[in-house]
Amino acid sequence: MTQRITKAVIPAAGLGTRFLPATKAMPKEMLPVVDKPAIQYVVEEAVDAGLSDVLLVTGRNKNALENHFDRVAELEATLERKGDTAKLEKVNESTELADMHYVRQGDPLGLGHAVLRARMHVGDHPFAVLLGDDIIDARDPLLTRMLAEHDRREATIVALLEVDPDSIHLYGAAAVEPTDDPDVVRVTGLVEKPTADVAPSNLAVIGRYVLRPEVFDILDRTEPGKGGEIQLTDALMEMAADIEGTGGVYGVVFRGRRYDTGDKLDYIKAVVQLAVDRDDLGPELKPWLAEYVTGFDLD
Ligand code: G1P
Repeated sequence: MTQRITKAVIPAAGLGTRFLPATKAMPKEMLPVVDKPAIQYVVEEAVDAGLSDVLLVTGRNKNALENHFDRVAELEATLERKGDTAKLEKVNESTELADMHYVRQGDPLGLGHAVLRARMHVGDHPFAVLLGDDIIDARDPLLTRMLAEHDRREATIVALLEVDPDSIHLYGAAAVEPTDDPDVVRVTGLVEKPTADVAPSNLAVIGRYVLRPEVFDILDRTEPGKGGEIQLTDALMEMAADIEGTGGVYGVVFRGRRYDTGDKLDYIKAVVQLAVDRDDLGPELKPWLAEYVTGFDLD
């Protein structure tokens, strides 16, 4: 029988150098996307998919993350005294969201290493990994779909997105075979950040994974790969070969809305897109935006 998955792991130890100086003294995961820190969207997504046990893999300079998901007695008392229940609710949202746990990565040896740091917490059970740079629109529940696919196939599941060949070098790229489901492919190979000419396809691995616990043993012996880092992609490559009978790797091809907050331009787009969709901001922002862009000279 398949085991119900309850744990989500979110690597959040990166230095966020692409956002300096904003991230000099503040974790990049705390950058606001409209009015919520990016990390809160990701934790909410895990909880929406039924995973309320969340482990953040953090590092130095990341105390703000723990504080964000903890009580803040003084502020709560002040808001209560004022009777400002709307703001109090906003403060409490992140506190009551999930059962949060933390482990530090120590040396920044790569994504594979960060995932390996979750071993003690996760134990011998399948689990999900969510990367903080990707925000998946709550209306397009990708992780829920991936968990269902894991239950069906008892295999490792990755999320794949068709990208422009010009940007495949930013991702892990998958070699795939079709299955009887048009949204699901079998992953036969993976290459971390290939140039367009050697990429096996333009299907990019995006930051959602459902992993079998066997991945820990593999990561433990995975040598540093691309960029001198221990790559999750390399361990998944071994899972895809299915030598030890762990079910192989399948990809759910995502066709929904995804917002990348990993670099400045994409981050700005994400903020605008999500704000336009909000009932409290969209009605005023949309006409303003429409007028603003008419002044652009795009030649
Ligand atoms: C990581 C993975 C890569 C994956 C990407 C998704 O890279 O190594 O395979 O495609 O996340 O966002 P990073 O973006 O951390 O460099």
